[in-house]
Amino acid sequence: MTSNGSSCADVTPPGPPLWLLAELTYKCPLQCPYCANPVQLEGGAELSTDQWRDVLRQARGLGAAQLGFSGGEPLTRPDLEQLVACARELGYYTNLITSGMGLTERRVQTLADAGLDHIQISFQDAEAAASAYLAGTGKAFEHKLEMARVVKAAGFPMVLNVVIHRHNIDRIGDILQMCLDLDADYVELASCQYYGWAQLNRQGLMPTLEQVRAAERTTEAFRQKIAEQGRKCRLLFVVPDYYEERPKPCMGGWGSIFLTVTPDGTALPCHSARELPISFPNVRDTPLRDIWYRSGGFNQFRGDDWMPAPCRSCDERHQDFGGCRCQAWALTGDAAQADPVCSKSPHHDLILAARAEALQPEAAPLVYRNVHNAKLFYRG
Ligand code: FES
Repeated sequence: MTSNGSSCADVTPPGPPLWLLAELTYKCPLQCPYCANPVQLEGGAELSTDQWRDVLRQARGLGAAQLGFSGGEPLTRPDLEQLVACARELGYYTNLITSGMGLTERRVQTLADAGLDHIQISFQDAEAAASAYLAGTGKAFEHKLEMARVVKAAGFPMVLNVVIHRHNIDRIGDILQMCLDLDADYVELASCQYYGWAQLNRQGLMPTLEQVRAAERTTEAFRQKIAEQGRKCRLLFVVPDYYEERPKPCMGGWGSIFLTVTPDGTALPCHSARELPISFPNVRDTPLRDIWYRSGGFNQFRGDDWMPAPCRSCDERHQDFGGCRCQAWALTGDAAQADPVCSKSPHHDLILAARAEALQPEAAPLVYRNVHNAKLFYRG
């Protein structure tokens, strides 16, 4: 035991990064008010094709096996097919995480030819008008529907993702029916988590507990219907953190399996960590091996020596790792605090207040992710 009564710190050395998220660009034709990313780069330029190839090579050398191409909208990068081909050659399992905007029948084919394994398309809603309202732009919905059909016809698994919040949660049945009509193989109903633009828009996005429970029941009814029909479609409904009593083991633990590289080459342990007051290294000047194993940013919240009370002596600290560092920072201004979602946290009252706020009949107006609002992007 240490002098403060806790057991010895966990000093297990980290394993390799298994998952690489390549955020190719912040450019996106949509303006979703729950996006985690800033609108534009603050300095520097996007990594070049060769720089990305080098990142993919280094990460694969470290042991990364899963690769997600995301953004912004990764289809805005004209070299996407070249990067997919490079990833294929290196032996990655590749996933394109896209809004579907910029996708065409021809591009689906060129991506398939380059060796892409998997395409995930995000939808805002099951109705054109509601989708336009949430994406901050019209015309996207019909195109997404069309591209989802093209992706399925090309032989890719049909993976659909819908961010769930107070503006669409009551239509979850329509959303699920749309996914079944598109012959989806896997549907992720991703409850909005309050980072980035969603943190700024929490009063406009957070549903009530009653809405969340009703959505869970509807999802379960659809699971039964799918089973009765003998169809193979998996539904995942992620309950919003703010309605949990224990925090999630965010990213499977800080610097444990996930490695994100942003458009300008900054390496992060999660896609939201850029908001933290931590200096993270850049792949332009530091080898990935040093970034992963030796950099201060990646080591900052590994193990449990950094944990203050109540996490420090909590039996569950090796299951949830104290929760999400980005959420702790966004809510308390101290990234080392227990995630306030935890009922043992001294800051849990902030979560209770947010739940009470969600009961307000009128949602606050949404602030869209665009250049006019860029300076409002949450910085803590
Ligand atoms: Fe960054 Fe949870 S999103 S640690």
